[in-house]
This record gives sequence, structure tokens and C-alpha cells, in this order.
Amino acid sequence: MKGLFISIEGTDGAGKSTQIDLLKKYITEKGRDVIVTREPGGTPISEKIREIILDNNNSEMSYITEALLYAASRAQHVNEKIKPALMEGKIIICDRFVDSSIAYQCAARGISREIIEDINKYAIDGIMPDITLYFDITPEEGIKRKKNMHTLDRIEQEKQDFHNKVYEGYQMLLKLYPERIKRIDASKDIYDVHNQVLKYIDCML
Ligand code: TYD
Repeated sequence: MKGLFISIEGTDGAGKSTQIDLLKKYITEKGRDVIVTREPGGTPISEKIREIILDNNNSEMSYITEALLYAASRAQHVNEKIKPALMEGKIIICDRFVDSSIAYQCAARGISREIIEDINKYAIDGIMPDITLYFDITPEEGIKRKKNMHTLDRIEQEKQDFHNKVYEGYQMLLKLYPERIKRIDASKDIYDVHNQVLKYIDCML
């Protein structure tokens, strides 16, 4: 693969979108081809799956159904968009990837890591991010920020305990993959956070 695959992770409300916009602008100004995409979503089929997953009316959805739908959305995304772009040498910035399934479906929902990794083995098809930036903010602060922005979706509406477990899941991932996952202190102001991001990305460009 000739391209560069950057994934962005964090608990809900960590401020990923703003930072993704700034990073995209920075990379574009350097004259590089960059694609911004997201999960769940990123292709027409994956976006349809996203609507089903996040729909507040789908409260009966079982945890395993949810995990499989995230993986299905990811499989289509990798196959249709991420893999071809990397083969063409493009830079991909992906808002969430498989680490989200470990933090949310495994650490918070309680499905075993073995099952989540197994399902996702087929979805990622050997593709993993070259670098993952994890935006660290306390779960309380994150949900407070989200509430100020819009009405909460099915996942965001989960109780505080759920968000705490997601947070713990990310702390576990940081320890497991220190080479790939880099912690960004997302409690700081926008430009401070952007500079932390550049510290890691600049040397990879
Ligand atoms: P989104 O609105 O994109 O949230 P955010 O702006 O916080 O990224 O909604 C995606 C939600 O789906 C978010 O709550 C995290 C969750 N999610 C999972 O539970 N598992 C996954 O594998 C992915 C990709 C996301």
C-alpha cells in the first residue's frame, strides 16, 4: 500500500470533527491528496447501515446485531473506498475505525474481544491504520459538549456508565498498541490540540 491511513478515535464529543477539518486543510496545503471519511459510513451502502445503527427507534437492537452492522458497514467501506485509495497512494483520514468497535462493542457492551476481533477480521481485510490519534477527554465533558450541539443519537443517549466503559476501553487500547495509537490531550484549546496532531502527522507526510 502506497498511501497513508490515519484513523481518529475518541469518546463522544472529544472534538474530532473540528480537528479533522484543520488536519485536512493542512495536508491539502502541502499539495497532497487527502480523503476524509467516517465510520459507520463513508460509502452509500455504509451510510444506509449507519442510519439503522444510530436510529433512536431501534431500541430493540441486540448487541451482537449492532456489532455485526458496524462490521458490515466497515467491510463495504474498506473494500469500496479505503483500500482503492491507499493503493492509489492517497492519504485517508478516517473518523473512527475498528478501535471504536473494541471500545464500544467490547469494553462497553461486554462482547468478548475475541468475537469482535474475529468479526472484524473479515471487515478490515488486512487493512489497519498506520497511525491512530486518540482524542482524550473525560466522558462527562464529552457528553456535555455533545448535548450542547444536537439531540443525542441512540449510542450517545446511553447512560454515563456506558461512556465510562468506552473511556476505559480506549485506555486499554492505548496500552496495547503504544506504537500505533497516540494520545492527544483534547481538553486543551483548538490550536493547542491541532499542534499536538501535527507533531505526529508531520513526520509521516
Ligand atoms: P457519530 O455521530 O459519528 O459519533 P462521533 O461524532 O462521536 O464520532 O456516531 C458514531 C457512533 O457510533 C459513536 O457513538 C460511536 C459509535 N461506534 C461504535 O459503537 N462502534 C463502531 O465500530 C463505530 C465505528 C462507532
